[in-house]
Amino acid sequence: MISTEPTARHPEPDHRLALDVRGVTKRFRRRRVPGLARSRRRGVHTAVDDVSFKVDAGEIYGVIGANGSGKSTLIRMLSTLLLPDAGEVYVFGHDAVRRPLAVRPLLNRVSADPSFFRAMSPMENLRFFGRAYGLSGGAVRSRSAAILERLGVDGDKAREPMLHMSRGQQQKVAVARAFLTSPRLMLLDEPTTGLDPRSKRDVQRFVAEVRGEDGVAILLTTHDMEEAELLCDRIAFLAGGRIVAEGTPLDLRKGVAGARPLDEVDMETVFMELTGRDIEEDEEEGPDGNG
Ligand SMILES: Nc1ncnc2c1ncn2[C@@H]1O[C@H](COP(=O)(O)OP(=O)(O)OP(=O)(O)O)[C@@H](O)[C@H]1O
Ligand SMILES: [Mg+2]
Repeated sequence: MISTEPTARHPEPDHRLALDVRGVTKRFRRRRVPGLARSRRRGVHTAVDDVSFKVDAGEIYGVIGANGSGKSTLIRMLSTLLLPDAGEVYVFGHDAVRRPLAVRPLLNRVSADPSFFRAMSPMENLRFFGRAYGLSGGAVRSRSAAILERLGVDGDKAREPMLHMSRGQQQKVAVARAFLTSPRLMLLDEPTTGLDPRSKRDVQRFVAEVRGEDGVAILLTTHDMEEAELLCDRIAFLAGGRIVAEGTPLDLRKGVAGARPLDEVDMETVFMELTGRDIEEDEEEGPDGNG
């Protein structure tokens, strides 16, 4: 039987904390790949390995890791789409693993490859999703137009079919859709990866402004060190599914710089020294890759 009594090791969840992640773990069975050495063919791969951290209300918390380090798996568990094999997740004090229905109205997520009705325009898509969330037609229309404009999607574009839009523009619509319902916790999985510099800046500016205005807590994954430093109050480095370092960008830099001047130590260097890996290197292609 699962005990729900708080103990010294498992203190009572704090309703003021946006996110309280305790020892979350996810394992996947490895696919069989013909031709690979026997030791790499079978077994279990731990994609997220005993991860714990907390995010305050109104904080932007960054999870930085190379391809395959476990970022999306972590986000899928936090958003209640995937059950952890071990560990606990609390969103504003609500148990996301045992009571996902209590948690879903509090959060929203932008995935790395969002899906839409591509024959419909951004405004039509937002109206559909807004109504599905129970917003009134009028509220959806005014909020959608305002958010799209702030993201730099002009009025004409907002009425064209989405299949005519670039990936950057589609990503902006995904961000608009996620913020339409005013979630208290936003999970952004690489919201700016692959965007042109202009679109990237539009999305970053929007994220920073919304945090300031609405006090929404944001968990953001990225490979982009500049973005992490620009937006995040604290960041965690994820490698091999584990958090190997956590702190403010400045503290992480100072920790690695030692006697060196801070401006000689960029975040790529900090990441490499703390994780022993290159942020651009795909973890699956390493010696222990899971093929
Ligand atoms: N459904 C699944 N079945 C099996 N293995 C999976 C599954 N989802 C993820 N994995 C594996 O778990 C590991 C972490 O994957 P994940 O997608 O979480 O990484 P990521 O950090 O988001 O990478 P990227 O930067 O490429 O998006 C990888 O080895 C991946 O192959
Ligand atoms: Mg991912």
